Amino acid sequence: MADFKKSVVYQIYPKSFQDSNGDGLGDLKGIIGRLDYIKKLGVDYIWMTPFFVSPQKDNGYDVEDYYHIDPRYGTMEDFEELSKEAEKRGIGLMLDMVFNHTSDRHEWFQKALAGDEKYKNFYIFRKGKENGEPPTNWESKFGGSAWQYVEKFDEYYLHLFDVSQPDLNWENEEVRKEIQKIVRFWMGKGVKGFRFDVVNLISKGAYEDDHEGDGRRFYTDGPKIHQYLKELNETTFGTDAEIITVGEMSSTSMENCYEYAGEDSHEMSMVFSFHHLKVDFMGNEKWVLVPFDFRKLKKILFDWQTNMAEHHAWNAVFWCNHDQPRVVSRFGDEGKYWKESAKMLAGVIHCLRGTPYIYQGEELGMTNAGFTDIEQYQDVESRNHFRILQEKGISKEAAYEILKVHSRDNSRTPMQWNEEKQGGFTDGTPWIEVNPNYKEINARKELQDEDSIFAYYQKLISLRKQYDVIAYGDFEALAVEHPDIFAYKRTWQGRELLAIHNFYGKETRWSVGVNLEEYECLLSNYKDHQIQGGEISLKPYESVILYK
Ligand code: GLC
Repeated sequence: MADFKKSVVYQIYPKSFQDSNGDGLGDLKGIIGRLDYIKKLGVDYIWMTPFFVSPQKDNGYDVEDYYHIDPRYGTMEDFEELSKEAEKRGIGLMLDMVFNHTSDRHEWFQKALAGDEKYKNFYIFRKGKENGEPPTNWESKFGGSAWQYVEKFDEYYLHLFDVSQPDLNWENEEVRKEIQKIVRFWMGKGVKGFRFDVVNLISKGAYEDDHEGDGRRFYTDGPKIHQYLKELNETTFGTDAEIITVGEMSSTSMENCYEYAGEDSHEMSMVFSFHHLKVDFMGNEKWVLVPFDFRKLKKILFDWQTNMAEHHAWNAVFWCNHDQPRVVSRFGDEGKYWKESAKMLAGVIHCLRGTPYIYQGEELGMTNAGFTDIEQYQDVESRNHFRILQEKGISKEAAYEILKVHSRDNSRTPMQWNEEKQGGFTDGTPWIEVNPNYKEINARKELQDEDSIFAYYQKLISLRKQYDVIAYGDFEALAVEHPDIFAYKRTWQGRELLAIHNFYGKETRWSVGVNLEEYECLLSNYKDHQIQGGEISLKPYESVILYK
């Protein structure tokens, strides 16, 4: 069995990782050329976001053909070589499967639009209300109505995301069979894992107006979700104990995740949940500016840690991905304590109970994009909301400030490899601008510095391999009410690990209540510590990982 509890996953956004042919887009050959770098970090798996044929309206999350590589990214031969080269280095590939929706350019949808009943039934077409309004008042996650009118049928189709991403009808057994075929196809290519995109949205419940929210309660963790996931498991990856899976669970509930990622539930190995990354939202509203709520952040992570463990379910743990702003900009300090805070944030995640995910560039302390013009933004969600914010009467300047903090493009700027032109990402013009700080923040520099953020991630990864308490230990929240400190204890077979982190840029103290002098320090982002008996004083963003 793949021991995903001892593993660490590195996420690649191929479009922004490494270009090998000068067209400004990252590609598979580019990834092959960087495998030694990834190997050096020490990770076990690479999750790559979709590189299938796609019109790229949502950067590949709009799939036109699941069986072929988009020529922009390379060829099937490139994929096979990547797979072989990764395997040589002991790294498994995880693919990103988008099955809640397809692209509107997918053959199935094209046939549906042409009036083929079989394929119309692959999607969700509904009549509008009598007054001509869409079937329900649900909102698309990318802004606007979730329904698109098709005049020819006098019907609407559902798209929870962009209008170019029609939702699939999982009620239809033929759809489920097609999806199983696709998963088995990629299993045949030697893939070692899968990430399933927004997979908890595939079972729609009642098509009713939502008078309390944007509609999500009618299709999130829907009525047949567990049945569908068990079926997918049983007919595809469940037959291979080596394959690991992670489900991206949008606005999910913890109770459902006990089942999605339960040890014996035969659904997914683990889940991504996002509640801890909404602590700088207003409820579910992302397009606002509010400072992050530290106590809430702790409470959410602690609750998930404790309750998932109690229910024998497994978390994926992470701060960053291609949909989230850069964590050092978000919860750390881009300035004076850039290095200390990036390391501290890494320490928080990597000692939790769960499989850690690192998003490309996180290990370098890459920061938010700092874009100031809408033309610099490429993301469909950002562009839509920039318009919507202004329609709501928010000034352009204020809308820019919001985008600067929340846009998904913050994490999509090219990987910063060195101080050369375009940060070493491409010889051409990159599809999205390189962060101008690439001369200060880049992989070459990090690799030359023994005390770098990269080196810190390396150490955290190797600690997980060395100390079973990190991989398997029980979890206990500490300092729950402390205004600055994020601390917890892990225990396993008589061993104990204390992870103590100062989340802020000022000194702080904490009375732990146990004699800390009995512990050995496994890792810290400062050279010396102030420990006296049960008292610890922490420097700005100090992180100390103690072991007994
Ligand atoms: C997931 C992906 C995101 C994409 C969306 C629709 O949330 O991570 O990038 O836009 O699903 O597929």
